[in-house]
Amino acid sequence: MKTLLTNADQQNIQYAGELLRQGEIVAIPTETVYGIAADCTNQSAVEKIFLAKGRPQDNPLIVHIASRNMLEGVVARFPSRAQKLADAFWPGPLTLILPKGEKLCAATTAGLDSVGVRFPAHPVAQAVILAAGVPLSAPSANISGKPSPTSAEDVFSDMDGRLPLVLDGGECNAGVESTVLSLLDDIPVLLRPGYVTKEQIEQVLGAPISVAKAICEQVQPQEKVLSPGMKYRHYAPEAELVLLRGSFAEFADYVGGKNEQNAYCLCFDGEEDKLPMPAFPYGKEGDGAAQAHSIFKLLRHLDKIGAQKVYVRCPQSQGVSLAVFNRLLRAAAFRIIELSHKN
Ligand code: TXA
Ligand code: MG
Repeated sequence: MKTLLTNADQQNIQYAGELLRQGEIVAIPTETVYGIAADCTNQSAVEKIFLAKGRPQDNPLIVHIASRNMLEGVVARFPSRAQKLADAFWPGPLTLILPKGEKLCAATTAGLDSVGVRFPAHPVAQAVILAAGVPLSAPSANISGKPSPTSAEDVFSDMDGRLPLVLDGGECNAGVESTVLSLLDDIPVLLRPGYVTKEQIEQVLGAPISVAKAICEQVQPQEKVLSPGMKYRHYAPEAELVLLRGSFAEFADYVGGKNEQNAYCLCFDGEEDKLPMPAFPYGKEGDGAAQAHSIFKLLRHLDKIGAQKVYVRCPQSQGVSLAVFNRLLRAAAFRIIELSHKN
């Protein structure tokens, strides 16, 4: 199949809508990462997404809407706390898990009784949904297991030959995927940290939420998880990543003792020139938004330059940095070294 990579002008948005109505799949920008979209009601269309990504069949997709009217048939109920959260964060990077509605095909929800739904903020994503005239199921537009793509070029390098159209809407603002929050039980559960933080959600709800254990800990093969995506190795570049938790001095000292080929560091802004090996800054220390914006882009860049080993300054585990920590932990297959016994 020939893949067209093109700008997201009005004509191409209409073309994307046409393809989607005909049961095709299309890669589109969102404010978080790029996604591969299909009509959420069309089983054979949604199956094409799984095929293009090499995605495990049991991992459900998020449904994207462009108005609250589109919730009809997508969710069975939209309780008042969902409305509160939607008022605060939609359109935007928050996915709510709710009881599923009757019009979704089985592949969208991977056979579960629930569905993840979000209203993306990116104008191109909204325009494509409206052009298709139907909510769109869309996972991140990477080959399964690879870092999520934050530019149309990154989508193209994974998806060339696997789908007909990639719409270029520029670099994604957020850079990490949406926050996933389950509203199925009395106490909401954070299933995936993202750009909307736990702290912001608690403030809107006026009550604490719980955090799924799998966010910061490795799931054992037989363990039951609340979100199927938690059990897969994710975001993994070719290189072996190691997270090092401690101060900058301890980090510099540790990597100074290494003498490996094709080894690199991911550090905070301003530290790159003070390290004994080539280093890429991924944002200011403590600035989760800046870190989120560049982390997937850098993981892909490290692959391009043939990195074999990457030592990473560990981010904090609060605010948006929790999302970055969660992605890095998976990219590192949970290899984390405590440099400091003080913390
Ligand atoms: O920002 C995003 O959310 C991007 C853009 C394209 O919107 N999409 C995205 O989709 O990251 P994906 O498929 O890569 O990740 C969706 C995650 C998976 O971990 C999946 O297991 C979880 O959401 N999920 C989806 N439906 C679920 C459900 N009903 N219950 C629990 N987890 C669910
Ligand atoms: Mg994904």
